[in-house]
Amino acid sequence: MLICEKIAEIRDFVRKRKGQGKTVGFVPTMGYLHRGHTALVERARGECGAVVASIFVNPLQFGPKEDFAEYPRDFDRDRRMLEEYGVDALFYPSVGEMYPCGFCTHVEVPGLAGCLCGRSRPGHFRGVATVVTKLFNIVQPDRAYFGQKDAQQVLVIKKMVEDLNMPVEIVAVPTVREEDGLAMSSRNVYLSPDQRAEAPVLYRSLQEAARVAAGGERDARRLVEMVRDRLSRVNGASIDYVEIRSLPDLKETERLDSPALLALAVRFGKTRLIDNIVLEV
Ligand code: PAJ
Repeated sequence: MLICEKIAEIRDFVRKRKGQGKTVGFVPTMGYLHRGHTALVERARGECGAVVASIFVNPLQFGPKEDFAEYPRDFDRDRRMLEEYGVDALFYPSVGEMYPCGFCTHVEVPGLAGCLCGRSRPGHFRGVATVVTKLFNIVQPDRAYFGQKDAQQVLVIKKMVEDLNMPVEIVAVPTVREEDGLAMSSRNVYLSPDQRAEAPVLYRSLQEAARVAAGGERDARRLVEMVRDRLSRVNGASIDYVEIRSLPDLKETERLDSPALLALAVRFGKTRLIDNIVLEV
């Protein structure tokens, strides 16, 4: 696996692979990899002639009081995992390579970025859209792979790609979970043993609501109340949001007339976990 710290190097690699007639798949990450990330790599490996991954903890998408400095990092382990899963090239830039002095251009998708995680994390999706635009321009992939675990992120990226005519296909990959249902996340390592034991309630409450919706409940407020009620009884958990929103435009929804997104964010101490499920009707 080629490791490129410089933009010129990864560009050169991609140019050569495209010259050989290969399609290029791209998996952007912030590292500290787990099976959620490797599921994206496997999907890309199956569908593309060459696979590029990136590891970049993007300062632009962290708020001033968030965990940018403490975000977990383990480059050697990540490198070995990506190699094992057949990644051809890893783009691993420094902050200075991505944001040289004087950097000032940003990409915003205001309609989709103002609700759910965007409300609790102002500027987050602006940071995501900006770095993903840069990564797409640098790598120029044919396809890029994102996890459904960050459902709002996938919708923001798809809208951005459509609105700005970016020549890349966005592929959404289902959420990979621990055996007890907890969605895999680099932030799960922050959980204390007690918090870790409680955390599967997030997915259980989503599944319960999905079952009730499938059974005919169409009142979004009642479904949301059900989930909130379940979560509010969990020791040490504080609800950031529980919402049902339309797909793909994330508008507020009172009645479920078409598939909708039930999404939640819950804090366990300082650790904020998110999860979601699509309510099929
Ligand atoms: P990161 O949190 O490292 O996630 C990288 C990719 O892995 C994202 O597309 C995310 O949705 C996906 N992913 C994470 N956990 C997953 C799980 N349990 N199952 C399936 N996919 C999962 O998301 C980011 O980084 C950044 O915002 C990024 C897109 C790299 C831009 O900086």
